[in-house]
Amino acid sequence: MTVDSQTVRTWLHDIANRAMSLGGPITLMRLGKIKADQDQLMAMEQKFEALSDAINSARHQLAANVAKSESQQLLEITCISQCAVDTNDSEFEYILNDIRSESAERNSKWNINGFLLYSDGIFLQRLEGNSEKVRQLAATIALDPRHKCVTFLSQQPISHSDQDRWKSMLFFSAKQEDKLAESLHRLQQLVLDSNDASQRNALLNDLTDMLKDKSA
Ligand SMILES: Cc1cc2nc3c(=O)[nH]c(=O)nc-3n(C[C@H](O)[C@H](O)[C@H](O)COP(=O)(O)O)c2cc1C
Repeated sequence: MTVDSQTVRTWLHDIANRAMSLGGPITLMRLGKIKADQDQLMAMEQKFEALSDAINSARHQLAANVAKSESQQLLEITCISQCAVDTNDSEFEYILNDIRSESAERNSKWNINGFLLYSDGIFLQRLEGNSEKVRQLAATIALDPRHKCVTFLSQQPISHSDQDRWKSMLFFSAKQEDKLAESLHRLQQLVLDSNDASQRNALLNDLTDMLKDKSA
């Protein structure tokens, strides 16, 4: 949210009026048309204070507005990681389910959308929502001992209309033979082997499109 132009016009009008009511007597005094006696100086000092108050009030309201608009910014973070739990363990399905239910609960409460894709030991996650909350959640997730080698693939501001791309936090699981799984493993290999961000981003975009198609 930003200050609307009508409010700014009102501030400027107020400041200009006060400056003019001060500028007039100063000019007359300079021209010798009025005397700078004690009363005149007192009256001018009051006008100076009123002008300074108007400027300070506009400045504070503007600063409050900037802070408010920053807290309303939206952010997207995408990361890839490797599962740190033995995927052959009979408990593994329970672990995945725990992650899913923790994510579903908090993300809907915090209004964070995106996806969590899992395939054969690899996680790919996108978080989209309020920038402070997304950063806070990403930091919590990065420290989770159930996965390792967490690599942030992207972090960028998004618009409010972008946030509707994912209706909530969506969960996908891909079998080894799926195209999705193949692309995910290729992406993981690229992250490990090369610094070629453009190749990585192209593959990430393909993967995201596949997930969007699946969720449509
Ligand atoms: C790959 C992976 C993705 C996760 N994604 C989320 C998520 O989107 N939201 C969430 O609340 N927790 C997620 N978690 C679980 C968090 O790391 C954390 O354990 C959980 O939020 C509980 O945090 P707390 O103990 O601070 O409440 C994920 C964990 C892993 C391993």
